Formats: sequence, structure tokens, C-alpha cells
Amino acid sequence: MAPLFPRLLVAAAAAAILGALATAAAVDGGGNGYTRVFSFGDSLTDTGNALHLPCTGGGGPASRPPYGETFFRRPTGRASDGRLAVDFIVEAMRLPHPAPYLAGGKTAADFRHGVNLAVGGSTALAPVFYEGRGLKTFVPVSLANQTVWFENVVQLLGSSDHGRRKIMASSLFIVGEIGVNDYLVSLVGNLTVGEVKSFVPHIVGAIRSVVNEVIAAGATTVVVPGMIPLGCEPQLLALYQGGGGDDAGDYDPKSGCMTRLNDLAEHHNRALNHALAELRRAHPGVSLVYAELYRAVTDIVVSPGRYGFRDMPLAACCGGGGGPYNFNMTAFCGAAGATACAVPSEYVSWDGVHFTEAANRHIACAVLNGRPYDGGAPPTMSTVTAWPAAAEVGRSRIGCS
Ligand SMILES: *[C@@H]1O[C@H](CO)[C@@H](O)[C@H](O)[C@H]1NC(C)=O
Ligand SMILES: *[C@@H]1O[C@H](CO)[C@@H](O)[C@H](O)[C@H]1NC(C)=O
Ligand SMILES: *[C@@H]1O[C@H](CO)[C@@H](O)[C@H](O)[C@H]1NC(C)=O
Repeated sequence: MAPLFPRLLVAAAAAAILGALATAAAVDGGGNGYTRVFSFGDSLTDTGNALHLPCTGGGGPASRPPYGETFFRRPTGRASDGRLAVDFIVEAMRLPHPAPYLAGGKTAADFRHGVNLAVGGSTALAPVFYEGRGLKTFVPVSLANQTVWFENVVQLLGSSDHGRRKIMASSLFIVGEIGVNDYLVSLVGNLTVGEVKSFVPHIVGAIRSVVNEVIAAGATTVVVPGMIPLGCEPQLLALYQGGGGDDAGDYDPKSGCMTRLNDLAEHHNRALNHALAELRRAHPGVSLVYAELYRAVTDIVVSPGRYGFRDMPLAACCGGGGGPYNFNMTAFCGAAGATACAVPSEYVSWDGVHFTEAANRHIACAVLNGRPYDGGAPPTMSTVTAWPAAAEVGRSRIGCS
């Protein structure tokens, strides 16, 4: 370990990325530069796709109250009480919300603000990968589907290759978060954390393929969010509560999160950053921004009061079961027998799996703050950097402290 040198390299790389972002932001001369957003992912980013999957029978929990009670004031298919991190990022950039792909758009006009391809329950890897291992995915959607849909939208956007590439070059791409369902499917299916770890290269490979795909289409700014701290998820904490096998694991004394699951998430993030470093070398003209979700969440969980959250950061606001996690699968938020807390903004977790709007705002602020990957080291001045001035304005627009 040579702590100083790599950190300087990281800072230099970040400065180069941010310079490129500033250039991209200057392209159209307008406020924030980007003209539209293309996003891939799962329920942390889905703004209305899973609602339209036949297999969810009309949408799953996020189609029912109290989802959406804080913002939108109705269920929209977002797995939260209000806005998702992607909603805050779009607002910060002063862009209209991109249309959810499965909402029925068929024309270029429908996608003039971009497209959100993220589907609740989606895995990075195709369901067949899991079926071959005796596991079952939540929905028949993976990054492979989202990539096909992306290609469909690109084709809609214009007949000339030049015209389409121009659109891609002025768009903001967000690839992720994706992979959490790959881990959930495996862990809920009783695989050990060690077994699940062997999937990481495959999952990261699927993310890398999408990044390559959008770059090939002409993308010049791609934000790639990392894995969230799986060991701080109420659902997983409840699953392993009361022991059971090897994976009962240790708990981090500071956060109360499960060390073994957080190690898995950190392993994912290391592999992802390794892939991003290779992609940056292969595509020097492209800004590839890693979004540090892991730290954004663990920061709150370790010091909830500092960020305005209650001193019970591992308990879900909505659901049932009580106790430190307030999670019970049969009383999932939105189901009969579930209740929601009075003030969701005091909670990190909305339903034991997804974040509250308050946590999502904090996550979006952390993403816009542009903290580069630091390999898990505590942040230092050289690794804490900002996006261009436009992002700084955007941060205040969405109420970042
Ligand atoms: C995703 O792709 C697979 C493989 O092509 C297909 O079987 C499945 O139906 C697709 N899912 C959706 C929702 O279109
Ligand atoms: C996982 O193990 C638990 C406890 O042994 C069991 O109740 C459950 O059915 C198992 N799940 C699967 C998908 O095999
Ligand atoms: C979970 O919720 C179901 C349905 O409300 C209830 O019957 C069951 O007792 C609950 N289990 C726990 C451990 O709270």
C-alpha cells in the first residue's frame, strides 16, 4: 500500500473528468449543458416501468399507497415515498423528467427528454444465469433488455448517424445503480456470501458492456453509480437476524450493518472501479463519473443525527414487524397489515429495501458532489472534488447542504 501516490492519481483523474464535464456542460451554452437523460437500472431508478410489466399484475407495491405520499402525492411506480435520486439529479440539471420506456412512448417526441430504462426488480445479468443455479429472478428483465430498448430509442431519434451521435454527445447517461437484485436473488435463495462473490465479475462485466454500448452510440458523459451498502439494508438484516449458518456474520459496531454483506458491496465497487479505469483508458474523450452511493448511505447510517435523520437508521419507515429493522416480508409496505411512520424524512429506508425521498436527496447531493472513488479510505481534501459550477448551482437547487 502506497497511500499517497494513488490518491494523487485519483485526484488528477478526477480533475481531468471534471474538466471534461465542464466542457460538456458548455456545449449548448445553456444553464447546465445536457439536453436529456438516459438512465438504466433497477427500482432505485425506476420512475414507472415496472408498473407496465405483465408479470407484476399491475405494478407491485410501488403502485399502491403509501408510495408517493410525500412527493407526487400518489403512487407513480417509484419505490419511495417521493422522489428518487435520479429525479433530484434531473431537477438539479434543470431538465424535464425522461419518459419511462415501458410507459408506451413510440415516437421521437416521446423521448425528446431522454428515456428511463430502469425497471424495478431488474438484474444486471440475464435470468438464465440464475435459473441455471436454481435461483429465480424477480422480473424477466436484465441489462440485456434495457440495452435493446436503448437501441430502439436511438433508432427513433433520427435517421442520420451524425444527428443521433450529436444527441448522445449532449446527453447525460446514468448506468445504475444495478446489481442489487443480482445479490438479493442469490442471498434470499440461500447462497453463501462467498458463493455470491464469484458472481461479481459477471455482474460488473454486464455493467461494462452497457457503458461500452452507450459510448459506441456517442455518449460522452456517463455516470456509473456503485453498489449500496447491502449490509445496511433492513430486508437483509432481518433475513439474517437470529443467526442461521455462516452468513449470520459480524456486525459493524459503529453502524450496526452486517460486515460480510458490506464487504460484498465493497468488493463489487472495487471491481467496478477497476473496469471504469480500463474504460477511461480506452475512451479518453469520454467523462466516466463514478457515483459513490456506498459512502453516501453509510455516512448517514453512522451519523444519522448530523444529516437530520432519527437515531434508528436501520429501521424501515413503512412495513411491519417492529424491532430495530421494522421489516417483515409478509407485511411489506403497501400490503395489508403494513403501516407507515409519521415522518418519512426522519428515516433512511422507506420500505426496508428502498430509500426515503430524504435519503435519495442526500444520495443525489453526494453524486453531484463528485467524490471520486477512494477505495474505502476516509475522504481527504485531495479526493473531495466538485462537479463544474453548473452542478454546484444544481446542488443548491435541490437543497443540498
Ligand atoms: C427480456 O429479454 C428476454 C430475452 O430476450 C425475453 O425473454 C424477455 O421477455 C424480455 N423481457 C421483457 C419485459 O421484454
Ligand atoms: C432458505 O433457507 C431457509 C431456512 O433454512 C428456508 O426456510 C427457505 O425456504 C430457503 N429458501 C430457499 C429459496 O431455498
Ligand atoms: C409478519 O406479518 C404478518 C402479516 O401481518 C403477521 O401475521 C406476522 O405475525 C408478522 N411476523 C412478525 C415476526 O412480526
